[in-house]
Amino acid sequence: MKIISNPTHNEIKLAAKALKDGHLVAFPTETVYGLGADAINEKAVSRIYSVKGRPTDHPLIVHISSIKQLDKWVIDIPEYAIKLASEFWPGPMTLILKRSSLAKDFITGGQENVGVRVPAHPMALALLNKFHKVGGFGIAAPSANRFGAVSPTSAAAVDEELGKYLGPKDLILDGDRCQVGIESTIIDCTKLVPKVLRPGGITLEMIQKVTSLKLIFKNDKNDVKTSGLLDSHYSPKAKVVIGIVTEPGDGLIALKKCPTPPNVVRLASPANVTEYAMILYESLRMGDQKALKRIVVIPPDGDGIAIAIRDRLLKAAFG
Ligand code: TXA
Ligand code: MG
Repeated sequence: MKIISNPTHNEIKLAAKALKDGHLVAFPTETVYGLGADAINEKAVSRIYSVKGRPTDHPLIVHISSIKQLDKWVIDIPEYAIKLASEFWPGPMTLILKRSSLAKDFITGGQENVGVRVPAHPMALALLNKFHKVGGFGIAAPSANRFGAVSPTSAAAVDEELGKYLGPKDLILDGDRCQVGIESTIIDCTKLVPKVLRPGGITLEMIQKVTSLKLIFKNDKNDVKTSGLLDSHYSPKAKVVIGIVTEPGDGLIALKKCPTPPNVVRLASPANVTEYAMILYESLRMGDQKALKRIVVIPPDGDGIAIAIRDRLLKAAFG
């Protein structure tokens, strides 16, 4: 495996060719790093599952370069989904739609629908554009972490997670730290109204405003329970505790306005919720690097991306 920092146009072209030849390419998106494979190559896609250690009935998101590629992968797109795609792509949003014949069972986990996303990171878009040029249809990419672990938001974190499982011809493209920092909002668009399966950077308010529809979202105080979206996820080795009570030696992640108690290791002090999302995963990772036993997190209040942060914290703390 090779890590390519600041890849040139030619190196991105070679990465696209590597994908087409069936190798894996981890690449940055604005949310988290993805572990990419040619979405129509069953053998390549099966390697995603073995490298991640992920059960094979968990569906994968197909990444495409623009809304123009959408009807290769899906059929029967409802009007509200077109509105969402036109408004928020490229961006941190995945739409679940009825699959076309291109989306095989090895992508969808045997379901009749498929998740599709146009990422906004320039390096992801450049890779997708080159991939389409060499005849590719889409890049299947889950977050580039071992199953159940914290998603990586830097190339170094991808290497730490998957480096030893990748093959000699696989690549990691380094595109700096991810700006959103948590995974995309997933919206099921197979029914009359949109249903948010995973909250993220595209917020409930934004979706409601664009579609003018009353969307479905389970109160974020309960866990979102949908096929493939597990209770326990995003977990570092340290025990994650939600609350305000710390013990000496604990790590602490909280907004800047919260003070650090004595003998507590402050892992992050984000100034606002946007920054909180951006630093969350790298801060959990830092807790593990410091071999902390417990990380206490004080979740942010309010709506918007704070809902997504609380969703991830609940899952990290589960069990
Ligand atoms: O931000 C993101 O979405 C990142 C970047 C790399 O794009 N990708 C990502 O993929 O988070 P992954 O596989 O780690 O998480 C996607 C989740 C999984 O829990 C999967 O089961 C669910 O979305 N999912 C994917 N396709 C689905 C489908 N057709 N129906 C229901 N759930 C689906
Ligand atoms: Mg994931």
